[in-house]
Amino acid sequence: MIVRRSTGEIDKLRRVNQLVARILAQLRAMAVPGATTRELDAAAEAQVRAAGAEPAFKGYHGYPATLCTSVNEQVVHGIPSTRRFVQGDVLSIDMGAQLDGYFGDCAVTVPIGQVSSEAATLLRVTEEGLFRGIDAVKPGARVSDIGAAVQQHVEAHGFSVVREFVGHGIGTSLHEEPQIANYGPGGRGPRLSRGMVLAIEPMVNVGQAAVKVLSDGWTAVTRDGSLSAHFEHTVVVTDEGCEILTLLEADAARAQGLLDAAVRT
Ligand code: MF3
Ligand code: CO
Repeated sequence: MIVRRSTGEIDKLRRVNQLVARILAQLRAMAVPGATTRELDAAAEAQVRAAGAEPAFKGYHGYPATLCTSVNEQVVHGIPSTRRFVQGDVLSIDMGAQLDGYFGDCAVTVPIGQVSSEAATLLRVTEEGLFRGIDAVKPGARVSDIGAAVQQHVEAHGFSVVREFVGHGIGTSLHEEPQIANYGPGGRGPRLSRGMVLAIEPMVNVGQAAVKVLSDGWTAVTRDGSLSAHFEHTVVVTDEGCEILTLLEADAARAQGLLDAAVRT
């Protein structure tokens, strides 16, 4: 069953998702050569707790940190460490929080200093793919329309969509129904309706789609060692389409540009 949230619940979801987005924006500024993912993790945990919220990932099935920090060929669920960033890295920062019983979840992939043109294209196409998926969210659409839109865009640019990890409903738990694959035919699965809250999170590889999990039990990496990127927004279905709960006012114009581009093609 996919839960439909009331206006009051959506207010709480907006609050926690905005908190996560604000913290992510601050972490971005710390993602520079010489810094470590552990420093980002400590800052994230301090900020989430200062806001009266709690990390959502820490302790989840034993996950040890506030952030997932996935560098270069790491796809998702990278564990913060003392490795120092070097110019040219790409870093996925994924963060979840819980506030007043409701969950927020958001991820971005950022360049460390100047990156290769291939890396820059990967980041651009992955975020565009996420916005294609978001553009597919409206009452009456089917869950699988989201992944179909993501896959179409990503593969048109010669990249591949990771199959093993999916987006998810979110609300009073971090992971709720439905699962949201980032590939596959549209027109399948439950119909979306007002009040459903979805975390959409495509993972995209420069090379082949296949991934494996390292012996730490968490870190997923591309099998072929190629670069990978990951973007995530949490959205709520509205009468008109959807509202991006993790979108900051400062990024609204940029997001509108990405949505306009999704409509044009
Ligand atoms: N955004 C990811 C997800 O929703 C991160 C989960 S990390 C975990 O699956 F540690 F909580 F598993
Ligand atoms: Co998620």
